[in-house]
Amino acid sequence: MSEDLFPIPADWAAHARMNQAARAADYRRSLDDGDAYWLEQAQRLDWITPPTRASDSSFDEADFGIQWFADGTLNVSANCLDRHLAERGDITAILWEPDDPSDAPRSLTYRELHAEVCRFANVLKDAGARRGDRITIYMPMIPEAAVALLACARIGAIHSVVFGGFSPEALAGRITDCDSSIVVTADEGRRGGKRVPLKANVDAALALDHCTSVRRVLVVRATGGAVAMQPGRDSWYDEAMAGVAPDCPAEVMKAEDPLFLLYTSGSTGKPKGVCHSSGGYLLWASLTHALCFDYRPGDVWWCAADVGWVTGHSYIVYGPLANGATTLMYEGLPSWPTPSRIWEVVDRHQVHTLFTAPTVLRALMKEGDHHVAKTSRASLQLLGSVGEPINPEAWRWYHGVAGEGRCPIIDTWWQTETGHCMVTTLPAVDKMRPGSCGRPLPGVEIEVVDEDGNPVEPGTNGLLTITRPWPGMLATLYGDDERFVETYFSKFGKDRYFVGDYAQLDPDGYLWVIGRADDVVKVSGHRLSTAEVESALVSHHSVAEAAVVGQPDEDTGQAIAAFVTIEDSAADVSRTELVEDLREHVAAKIGKLARPKRIVFTYDLPKTRSGKIMRRILRNLVEDKPLGDTSTLRDPSIVEHIAKKMKES
Ligand code: WTA
Repeated sequence: MSEDLFPIPADWAAHARMNQAARAADYRRSLDDGDAYWLEQAQRLDWITPPTRASDSSFDEADFGIQWFADGTLNVSANCLDRHLAERGDITAILWEPDDPSDAPRSLTYRELHAEVCRFANVLKDAGARRGDRITIYMPMIPEAAVALLACARIGAIHSVVFGGFSPEALAGRITDCDSSIVVTADEGRRGGKRVPLKANVDAALALDHCTSVRRVLVVRATGGAVAMQPGRDSWYDEAMAGVAPDCPAEVMKAEDPLFLLYTSGSTGKPKGVCHSSGGYLLWASLTHALCFDYRPGDVWWCAADVGWVTGHSYIVYGPLANGATTLMYEGLPSWPTPSRIWEVVDRHQVHTLFTAPTVLRALMKEGDHHVAKTSRASLQLLGSVGEPINPEAWRWYHGVAGEGRCPIIDTWWQTETGHCMVTTLPAVDKMRPGSCGRPLPGVEIEVVDEDGNPVEPGTNGLLTITRPWPGMLATLYGDDERFVETYFSKFGKDRYFVGDYAQLDPDGYLWVIGRADDVVKVSGHRLSTAEVESALVSHHSVAEAAVVGQPDEDTGQAIAAFVTIEDSAADVSRTELVEDLREHVAAKIGKLARPKRIVFTYDLPKTRSGKIMRRILRNLVEDKPLGDTSTLRDPSIVEHIAKKMKES
């Protein structure tokens, strides 16, 4: 592991809000006197009834439960909008940069966003939405996506955003799982000069037999592209907005009322509906946005994620808006029309902080430094990374080339389930180490353990765990408390949260995340389950069996490698054709993001005598690692056969 420490840039050190000692003391207090600490932190929010209790949460076997600020009430949209109106109403809340640089940017002040959200909340009510109802949001990156989220929060409906890159079938599964009654979408999205047929995808999803819960579809006119509207079910956003009252009081919600669901991939084929509640989530969003990114009023903040992922929820919408910040929302791709685009957007909007993913950096790095050098980037002060381990080479490029050595980098480790950043260096406080995220934030206590749950020595790889509840953690998996406990609290019992990552702590307490320890892969930072891709593959008529693993990839971090046995009936089909066919099949079942990069055809898979597929062997094969014990294989010669086929694939 890299040993070099990067110091804090001098001008940052000069305006630091705290030093190492204060950070350590703050951390200690958050653990030793957690209730007082969190009640104090809770004052960041505007409560209707301020909470008198912080945590009623416990990872103890006997009284296991997760509850934060249980007697507090608030409304999340009022926290993100109404409370800013008096003093910051005319400040830009959302700055929108279109896909095509020749189109005009848009901006909405807090007052304008508030008005839009109130109206749309009334549209939702007119469409029959009530407190607790689930509303699916399948949107491009346009301000109306944020409006839809906040309007749900205003009336106490629970939003479930589905990333616009998911296929109709994946969308239908997510609609049905939470019994969603309303879908909010747009005619089309725009990305990299191409159109994404969102409304047509919604129509296709709702035409599937099992997808029967949706009564109303609200459609934003984003591109003006032609779409079919079903009378009685579908309405245009702009027409509906014109017909409702401008005021909408914010519902009084309990801190523990669910704010949203977000489906993410786990070890099985069925995505998990990660459920976040209102108070703890918003507090953690607001606190981490201010603390980790050292946010100060006036900074233009750009989280270049998609609102379809947790990063977009927490750091495009909730965190920055709770803090009254100006949040930039970008419709397009970082390298379109040219690899300079991301930096041109920085210059155009005078961005102070950029928060993006290693996969983006690796792609830009490959294109050459001249694309960066021709832009100014003088406004940039801070750089963030999230989603997968950042390789030291990409870190150094981000720091030295993009940030010209003057911007601290914060590498934030967290998950959909944790809600927000959990481990990171703090700018102006901690020295940085390329490839390591740094130290845990207040209230976050982590331990790296062996398979039996015993802490391992610093410098030793193990499984990352979190040993106490934190505000902002998921409350449950939607409709499946049992799976919640089984997934996160069964490997080591209930006394620690099982993260699912391999990691190590170094002697300074810095965390180095190595990657997933389960059947989850991160392709370009997108989280996918191998089981999900396997079941998509086996649903193809030519496929008999499939095993999927993540293989290291210098562009996308990991890529999907699929090992497939085919039905006799497909014996004559050309392999090249079949590869394309299978890739398209997976795209139709899940989305293009899940298409296997490599498909290896084999006559059998490595199996134990009882017929269990040994994915470990496949993982070792794609990672070029020693195979380990193959003695339990039913047919040990299969390994050699697969290795040979891999060379041909
Ligand atoms: C990985 C994304 C290394 C990790 C916010 C985690 C990271 C999974 C980092 C969650 C990081 C996220 N360094 N690995 N800075 N950030 N990960 O739910 O494996 O899409 O468990 O949340 O991404 O992915 P998710």
